[in-house]
Formats: sequence, structure tokens, C-alpha cells
Amino acid sequence: MIKTRVQELLHIRMPIIQGGLAYLARASLAAQVSIAGALGQITATTLDTQEDLRREIRQLREITDKPFGVNFAMGHRPIDDLLEVALEERVPAISLTGGNPKPYAPRIVNQGIPLIVLTAGVRAAKNAEQLGASIVVAVGVEGGGHLGRDDTSTMVLTRRVVQSVQIPVVASGGIADGQGLVAALALGAEGIEMGTRFVATVECPAHPSYKERLVGTQENETRIIEKSIGLPGRVLPSPYVDTILAHEPASSLEELLPYISGDKNQRAALEGLWDQGFAWGGQATGLIEDIPSVQELMNRIEKQAEETFRRLNISWLDS
Ligand SMILES: Cc1cc2nc3c(=O)[nH]c(=O)nc-3n(C[C@H](O)[C@H](O)[C@H](O)COP(=O)(O)O)c2cc1C
Repeated sequence: MIKTRVQELLHIRMPIIQGGLAYLARASLAAQVSIAGALGQITATTLDTQEDLRREIRQLREITDKPFGVNFAMGHRPIDDLLEVALEERVPAISLTGGNPKPYAPRIVNQGIPLIVLTAGVRAAKNAEQLGASIVVAVGVEGGGHLGRDDTSTMVLTRRVVQSVQIPVVASGGIADGQGLVAALALGAEGIEMGTRFVATVECPAHPSYKERLVGTQENETRIIEKSIGLPGRVLPSPYVDTILAHEPASSLEELLPYISGDKNQRAALEGLWDQGFAWGGQATGLIEDIPSVQELMNRIEKQAEETFRRLNISWLDS
């Protein structure tokens, strides 16, 4: 039986974390992920007010008493007010992405809340460890949403980060099934984080057309926007995305903002208005063939992992 430090630290049955999902990772999704035995997360930074976050946290706690996380993306907006709520509510875990966690890490760590830091390189991973993070997530370039600037693949990054820190590493980017989970464990990771796969589930509040596009899009069709302004992010293809790319290279965030604002993200992701907005999606889209419930997905991943372990548990070469 697999029991990694990630499972122990987060008190979860399966070593799986649902990634922060801008506008989508609400209590309704996170609760189901946690009930299914993984770590569900509420994304704080796309909620407007402290009250909104408090309500989401309490709503989740009404549905389940299983552990969950609250995710903060740094750099989009100040997060102090929202972080204060998460600390007051003494949430079971907090994850930080999109910048140096230094200004926030001490407050989280001093309260004894496990801090999960998303990184895309060895230096950032070591920094997170020094700041007292409990877990570091290595996010490879295959992933959906915002990425690191170094274009390092999950396969190489996971190994490099595992070699570089003592704290447990979670592999992320391009993982959507039990085979991917076993591969990550083989690389020395102690768990996986998935974003794109969780969008195409029944409980995710994404627009139905978003989920259908994830089923229909192949791994070689995703696009990267915002690279010219140093904020690369992987999206599903669409004519709207071609329009964004037609404005790149851009010289500043301000120049691109009319096309890439959170509002434009919501248009496609929540309202299905694909001619007016864009939606994040990773290469794992090529591995998505259906829209199961979260529980079905978790059962399937468990079974796939078990079958994969069994398949591999043979002498792999004739002596
Ligand atoms: C729709 C979508 C929204 C995302 N929003 C966030 C976010 O708000 N915060 C965050 O830490 N990561 C965000 N990510 C990144 C994921 O948490 C995760 O790191 C990434 O999706 C992993 O790669 P995968 O998509 O191949 O599973 C987002 C990803 C997607 C697909």
C-alpha cells in the first residue's frame, strides 16, 4: 500500500491534489474531491471579497469534514485580506503560486498550517523549502494555466526538484490518470496535482462546452498565450486565442490586458462564450475522453494505478 508523506501531511487517502482553478475551484468541486479521498482546493484569488471566501470555506465544511486547501495566486491582486480569512478559519492547507511566497510564508507556517508552494524550477523549490513549505509542487510546461518561464517538462522538472529538496514533491502538469500517478511516484514524487482533468468532471462549475472541448481537443492543439510579457499560460485553442496571439509579442501587460483579463476568462470558462474569451487547458486534454463525476474519476485512477503497479511488478528484463 502506498503511503507517502503527502498523504500523511495532508491526511488524505490518495496522494492527489486538485490544483487551484481560477473561477472554477469553488466549495462545490473541492468538497467532492476531498470526499473522494484527495485534497480539494478552493481558489481564493478569483473571489472578490473576504466574505465570499469565508462563505466558500464554511460551505465546504458543511458538506464535509475532510481536509481541503485554499489556493492563492500571487501577483494578480493583493492577497493579504483573503489570506487573513484563511488563517482565521484555520483551513487545513494553503497553497501559493505565481511568485515568491516570502511575504506570506511565515504567517502560514507559524500557525502550523501545511504550506504547499507551486514552482517551475529548482531555485524556487529550494526557496520554498527554506521558507518552511511542507510540500513543493513541480509544475511542468505541459500544464494548463500559468506556467514557469523555463519551459521545463514535468518529467525532467520532477526529477530535478526531487534531487534538490528534502521536503515531499508533488508532480504536476500533463497528468490525468493512474498511469501518470505511478509515473510520478517512479520519478520520486510523493503525489500528483491535476488541474485540467478536474475541469472535465460533473461537479466542476465550468460551462458544459468547456468540458466538451476538453474531450475533443488533442494534446498537440493547446496554445501558449502571454509568453511575450513573461507570464506564459496554456489555453485551449480557439479563434479568440488566435486574436490574443495576433497581439503578441506585446510590450506590456497593459497592452494585452483587454484580451486576457479575468473577465475574458470567465466569458469562455463559465458562460461558454468562446468568441469573447479564453479558457485554460493543458496537454492532458489529449488524455480526457469523458466527463465523469469526481468520485468516478478517483475510483478509475485508483484502479489504473493498481493495474499499472501489477503490470510493472515483473522482472522487466530477461537475465
Ligand atoms: C482552468 C485552470 C485554472 C487554473 N487556475 C489556477 C489558479 O488559480 N491557481 C493555481 O495555483 N493554479 C491554477 N491552475 C494550474 C493548476 O492548478 C495546475 O497546476 C495545472 O493545471 C497542472 O497541470 P494540468 O492542467 O496538466 O493538470 C489552473 C489550471 C487550469 C487548467
